Amino acid sequence: MIVAAVKEKNEFENRVSITPDTCKSYIKAGLDVIIEKNAGYNASFLDAVYKDSGAKVLDRKQVLQQADILMSVSTMLENSDLEILKNKAVIIGGFNPYENSDKIQKIIGKNLSLISLDFLPRISRAQSMDILSSQANLAGYKAVIEASSIFKKALPMMMTAAGTIIPAKCLILGAGVAGLQAIATAKRLGCVVSAFDVRPEVEEQVNSLGAKFVKVEDETNTKEAQTVYAKEMSEDYKKKQLKAIHDVAINMDIIISTALIPGKKAPLLIESNTIMQMQSGSVLIDLASSSGGNIEGSKIGEKVNINNCIVYAPTNLPSLIAYDASLLFSKNIFNFISNFITENKTFDIEAKDELLLKTILVKNGNKTENFYDG
Ligand code: NAI
Repeated sequence: MIVAAVKEKNEFENRVSITPDTCKSYIKAGLDVIIEKNAGYNASFLDAVYKDSGAKVLDRKQVLQQADILMSVSTMLENSDLEILKNKAVIIGGFNPYENSDKIQKIIGKNLSLISLDFLPRISRAQSMDILSSQANLAGYKAVIEASSIFKKALPMMMTAAGTIIPAKCLILGAGVAGLQAIATAKRLGCVVSAFDVRPEVEEQVNSLGAKFVKVEDETNTKEAQTVYAKEMSEDYKKKQLKAIHDVAINMDIIISTALIPGKKAPLLIESNTIMQMQSGSVLIDLASSSGGNIEGSKIGEKVNINNCIVYAPTNLPSLIAYDASLLFSKNIFNFISNFITENKTFDIEAKDELLLKTILVKNGNKTENFYDG
């Protein structure tokens, strides 16, 4: 069986789905690896290193014609690619099915299958395959680094002969994977950090990272839920939440928002009215912009100036640390595929394992129950 990686055609995607390291792992598992020329270039992996690791480096057309399993980080293949792809090929990646169902639709009716690892259940067996966690962790880190480069002040306290610089105050909204890493990074850089999440059980994690937990007093909070994902909150709770966040936010220098409810529009947590009361020069980074945004006025890929505060909604933060992001992403996919390699070195598309059953969106050209129509 041949596993392959193509160069991502999306201009915002620098990552690659097979690195030279994972290339060696596939070969050790008895598979062959082919890579499109320059597929790893933007992530700093050169073709020569792939060749040294045992891969064949080919043109895109040859890769598509030969691949049994074709991997892509996030870019769905175009029609011209799909037409060349080998019959019965399996496409694997992180295609964000909630937002890209029209693109995924294109492979219905073709004898191809598509697996999107975004839908992996968050169970302990799947942790080593969890692309959302591995990439969101890096995104949380990079969000703070991006904020610091936009912010016109230093982050840590500095006592110098010429005077004292006070530490920056940073608020993180949503303390999931990205949020917890953003808290840890902001702390390491010397910020005074506060954080908020609707799941009260994360308070302990927030405190253990040295940050203060912002509370919303309400009986309908998700105490009973105790899940890894939040539920949508009542209108009454949302009002109380906006007020509690507003009161804290107006005194912040940096706000990083990462609040997400999977499959739903992102909750609005910061209104323009709040931004208008923040200090000139404050920086707000909205990670949830592609699902509607946590910050009013954020525009994906843009830095919007509101009252001399910058609201930035980065398009693809993991792509900005493409080397490390690719290392983790490719290892996640390898760990997933390893579960389904048969003795004959084929991919067991019929396996009754929940890891496959929950992530396969198209099987041999037919929609599965996981297919998201919007
Ligand atoms: P996650 O599911 O681990 O965390 C989301 C957190 O938001 C959860 O802890 C949840 O309880 C919390 N939340 C939900 N509703 C809330 C509310 N009303 N108020 C406060 N908190 C609330 O998600 P993860 O993996 O940390 O991702 C966070 C966001 O970052 C997502 O929107 C994701 O799409 C985005 N992201 C963006 C990237 C970029 O480059 N722009 C890269 C990676 C992730």
